[in-house]
Amino acid sequence: ADIRARVQTLRAELLAHNRAYYEEDAPTVEDSVYDGLFLELQQLEARWPALLTPDSPTQRVGSAPSAGFGTVTHRVPMRSLSNAFSEADVLAFDRRLKSLLGVTEDFAFSATPKLDGLAATLRYEHGRLVQGATRGDGVTGENITANLRTVRGVPAQLSGPAPEVLEVRGEVLMLKEDFLALNRAQEARGEKLFANPRNAAAGSLRQLDARVTASRPLTFYAYGIGEVSDPAQVPASQHGMLEWLGTLGFLPPPGAERVQGVSALLDYYRHTGSVRATLPYAIDGVVYQLDDRHLQEQAGFVARAPRFALAHKYAAEEAVTTLNDIFVQVGRTGVLTPVARLEPVPVGGVVVENATLHNAEEIARLGIKIGDTVIVQRAGDVIPQITGIVPEKRPADSRPFVFPDTCPACGSHAVRPPGEVIKRCTGGLICPAQQVERLIHFASRNAMDIEGLGIENIELLHREGLVHDGFRVALGGETFR
Ligand code: IVH
Repeated sequence: ADIRARVQTLRAELLAHNRAYYEEDAPTVEDSVYDGLFLELQQLEARWPALLTPDSPTQRVGSAPSAGFGTVTHRVPMRSLSNAFSEADVLAFDRRLKSLLGVTEDFAFSATPKLDGLAATLRYEHGRLVQGATRGDGVTGENITANLRTVRGVPAQLSGPAPEVLEVRGEVLMLKEDFLALNRAQEARGEKLFANPRNAAAGSLRQLDARVTASRPLTFYAYGIGEVSDPAQVPASQHGMLEWLGTLGFLPPPGAERVQGVSALLDYYRHTGSVRATLPYAIDGVVYQLDDRHLQEQAGFVARAPRFALAHKYAAEEAVTTLNDIFVQVGRTGVLTPVARLEPVPVGGVVVENATLHNAEEIARLGIKIGDTVIVQRAGDVIPQITGIVPEKRPADSRPFVFPDTCPACGSHAVRPPGEVIKRCTGGLICPAQQVERLIHFASRNAMDIEGLGIENIELLHREGLVHDGFRVALGGETFR
């Protein structure tokens, strides 16, 4: 009964996380936490097969399509991948395939980075793009053709001879740099921030207005195919297929390689891991596939994933450091945000000194005190976040953080509007912090777009008392203040 109850709890939790991740593009837990729950459920189901049901999250992919879009039925299902978290898992994958296929010599594998975006499928008929869709639950996805047409790496017309019907599958991504710029623009407009590049890509692609998608810098990398009318026209190897897709106008996953034998897979994993932080896009692992597509077919599928492929995941980039202090930042609209000042520490190749703590509830949830040893992660490879504390390392002189009742910049009352988790400075334009933030917003790319008047110059002019709460701009004979 205990195990049955645990299985039910895990399923309910995973379903709720799936909804947040796939339908709302707003994850509620770190990927590593999700992977941990998923693995626990998988292990319980393997041990007690009577508890396994076809509707378990371990047997399905993704989530139901959202009502805002038309639906598309995938004639060839869009599956997920089995995960490996250790070298032993990879060796077991290789052994399993050898015994399944009765092979003793080394396999050739195709190895690619596991791009952390969202899966999409593109249907070409007579060389023209006719439909594009999300994965959805693997069988039914959302029709987002108009949006996908605006994405880089999605040719409207194939640039070489191809089967009459060809479905190309891949991942839509936003570069780390573009994600940070988008978040800056969102912040300047007072709109919601995205948690990581994956969510920014998903949120941008699943827009009802394709013009919004078009304004967001997205790229499609092709890693495979779905339905194809004449399979004989497709190269017989996975790596060859990626190259062939390249000749048709697609971008193959950057860093794709053909390698020989399982130890070369592990070398590939280590090498890709060592350059991970410097890549312009977020990856959360590497993907191995048998290179020979006939062998792939023989190996076949389990419920949600192919047997011939494996996602070898990286741990989230993490580091441990000391929380030296918490200061409060004042935003353009007066929102007070607590920010952790950390003992500088490298996380995945970048030195992290500050990390947002979002709001008072987040501080309470983490149970943080100043002086604590904290765990820092970069969410989706980019934004530093505190994910926990090391309780045993709490020093005797640690002190709790008390959220101020007044604005640290102007001393005005700070109030918490009913029903909100944030506190706001009530000073308006008498608050110097709000003044500066509003000036930055006014001059920014999305507003007056004043060249040379960036954050640093505005801060300097404000500090020197040369601009106060506004300035006049002459533009085409008109004056704006
Ligand atoms: S191969 C049966 N290669 O990861 C699917 N997938 O977690 C075979 N993904 O659904 C996919 N990068 O959306 C493949 N280089 C890559 C990938 C990749 C990211 C995604 C894909 C898949 C998901 C599974």
